[in-house]
Amino acid sequence: MPQHIGILTSGGDCPGLNAAIRAVVKASQEGYGMRVIGFVNGFRGLVQDQTIELDDKVVSGILTGGGTILGTSRDKPHRMPMGGKMRDMTDAIVDTYHRHHLDALVCIGGGGTQKNALRLKKAGLHVVTLPKTIDNDIPMTESSFGFDTALGIATEAIDRLHSTATSHNRIIVLEVMGHRAGWLALGAGLAGGADVILIPELPYEVESVAEAIRERTRRGKRFSIIAVAEGALSGRDADCVDALVEKKHKAATPGQKEAASEALRQFHEDHAGHTIKFTKQLEKLTGQESRLTILGHLQRGGTPSAGDRVFATWLGAHCAKVLDARTYGVMLALQGTTIRTVPIEEVSGNKKLVPPDHPLVKSARLVGTSFGEAQGVSGS
Ligand code: F6P
Repeated sequence: MPQHIGILTSGGDCPGLNAAIRAVVKASQEGYGMRVIGFVNGFRGLVQDQTIELDDKVVSGILTGGGTILGTSRDKPHRMPMGGKMRDMTDAIVDTYHRHHLDALVCIGGGGTQKNALRLKKAGLHVVTLPKTIDNDIPMTESSFGFDTALGIATEAIDRLHSTATSHNRIIVLEVMGHRAGWLALGAGLAGGADVILIPELPYEVESVAEAIRERTRRGKRFSIIAVAEGALSGRDADCVDALVEKKHKAATPGQKEAASEALRQFHEDHAGHTIKFTKQLEKLTGQESRLTILGHLQRGGTPSAGDRVFATWLGAHCAKVLDARTYGVMLALQGTTIRTVPIEEVSGNKKLVPPDHPLVKSARLVGTSFGEAQGVSGS
């Protein structure tokens, strides 16, 4: 009997999702005679049983489009806002899965989606996941689709900011996304030749950043470009996060854990827009006119890069093979030049951060880029 497959996209959208959907549908139908239905708006579509029959006709022409034809949401199966309340909708999802006599569910998403897929695996569903995110922070895979496009957009922004920074002799700060990881800022900073790169993994001191800029001025450079990850932390902020994380780990009761999680969530909420304060501080410390650009969701919109189309198609086509082999409970991961399957348990709940001694960090230091670390801290 050919298998019946469900597919959904979940979490923040990114370029390449349609390419992945198209590849799963085409490869599983043409190669193995499977039937595929899509659930709309992430896990909510499973709860509300909202589906789209997916065939060659539906996925034709979507390869180059941004976003996702299925829609997406950040809904979690176990905590879903329903009628003004947070409810555990896992049972409803399991019911929908069985009502459609599905053999497996393909979940395309980032870190949150991997956690949700694991919950459904534990509830007895056959799940296979594909890694997507512009943040590139999913462990066990060298990359996730969406990242390459976002990297290109952020790099182009730096290129464009260079000409206006030089014309006005200004400091221009560019805030890029990346959640708690610095891959996007590091990559775009390197590609665009940023003078300072600030990432969450290497806490900075604003005085050290100011000193790096003064040093540039002493060498006759009258403008500076600073690429800042949205999650970048000053040394003080990093200490604060460490203390809250420790509190969460040491919590003796579920109540204490909930309170620590809430404090951590609040910290990150308040931290959003920290680059506004940072830019003002820098202007004061250097006496040089400074401006800020926050790139935001531009990084997630529009046409996927050729690299993301290729990668998403590769993952989607490989997914059909994995489904045919009835290998379930796994994420497809790029390791070296091969796509392998890894148990979702090894991915869920973990984050791939930039190691402080990563070759790209070392290369940036060697070409004179500052990471704004406190004096005496590695390489500064
Ligand atoms: O995970 C992708 C991402 O774009 C992050 O870089 C960013 O922190 C977050 O999503 C923004 O989420 P939202 O689109 O829900 O505001």
